Amino acid sequence: MPKLRVGIVFGGRSTEHEVSVTSATTILKALDPARYAPVLIGVDHEGRWHVAETEHQLLPEGVFASSAAVATFPSAGAGLELREIRDGDNALQAPLNVIFPIIHGRGGEDGSLQGLLELADVPYVGPGVSNSALCMDKTLTKRVLRDAGIPVVPSREASRHELLRDSNAFVQVVEQEFGYPVFVKPSNTGSSVGITKAHTRADLLESINIAARYDFNVLVEPALSTREIECAVLGGHAPEASVLGEIISAREFYDYEAKYVSDDTQLVIPAPLAAERADQIRSLALEAFRALKCWGMARVDFFVERESERAWVNELNTHPGFTDGSMYPRLWEASGIALPELLDRLIELALERHREQRSLEVRFRS
Ligand SMILES: Nc1ncnc2c1ncn2[C@@H]1O[C@H](COP(=O)(O)OP(=O)(O)O)[C@@H](O)[C@H]1O
Ligand SMILES: [Mg+2]
Repeated sequence: MPKLRVGIVFGGRSTEHEVSVTSATTILKALDPARYAPVLIGVDHEGRWHVAETEHQLLPEGVFASSAAVATFPSAGAGLELREIRDGDNALQAPLNVIFPIIHGRGGEDGSLQGLLELADVPYVGPGVSNSALCMDKTLTKRVLRDAGIPVVPSREASRHELLRDSNAFVQVVEQEFGYPVFVKPSNTGSSVGITKAHTRADLLESINIAARYDFNVLVEPALSTREIECAVLGGHAPEASVLGEIISAREFYDYEAKYVSDDTQLVIPAPLAAERADQIRSLALEAFRALKCWGMARVDFFVERESERAWVNELNTHPGFTDGSMYPRLWEASGIALPELLDRLIELALERHREQRSLEVRFRS
């Protein structure tokens, strides 16, 4: 059987660029060389796309250093430019059979890359356009989950536009409903970028300004005294939930520093929880995955109150980290699915969805 050509799209114009490069390296090493011919497609900080055959340039950094850009997008400020790729130029001489997008955050897991891949009619790993977009937006995620009866932390939102006109009304509502401390977040974010904890009114005003720099919408939630529990979900029509993991951060909360810089953050697998509680959380993870009509993979993150062990879904990450130390692959490893098998399953799910999509009627026949 010919090898499946897998395009690994990584990097990106995002605060999580470096994590993505490491994730791509891990995936590349774990793909079974007997079954797959991987092609690295690196998106640099300026939004330019570079291609390399892995045989020649194993290190993702090598892609950026030594290859000419094959595509740039308007976000790069240069206007859309897709160069013709001639014979001998690079690895894209033969079509790719499936794409593994591993760009975190904006432009990678927010539905925009998925839209491009839909238009190109290429199968791709992970959830589709609308599901990826919904999961990137904290406000919209909560609405869908609430509608499905899944517990989420109460919140108040306001648009940057409203806040610029009058933040007092919003501040009053927040104070009446939640008091302090509260968490203030851009609705559309990742890696804790733009998220702060406000202890006073002055803090709150400053936090709103910070969050509004990153998105048009700002979200405020009461600060809970919680544990942070994560569950990995894998599958399509019959998704499965992994064992649970716990994140223990030595900092005030699990901020950018704790995620990527500090050595003091611990991942505990399995999370020490009573079996019944763990089962309940795993069921909630599956319900959340289904409510958002996800496909392929998502890491479902929970807040679990210390005393009562009451659980809320915090968010779904549709393109979780895939580095050696990342929670998603580690949770599956602990659940009996090692990384090469996990990748096989994700790729098979991408092909399955594409086959199903192809089976849909695109013309109306009366
Ligand atoms: N309501 C909250 N109560 C307590 N901690 C919170 C709350 N909201 C966020 N946090 C802390 O901030 C971190 C980042 O928030 P999160 O909503 O997960 O954003 P991101 O998408 O950037 O990961 C969480 O992992 C947690 O440590
Ligand atoms: Mg988070």
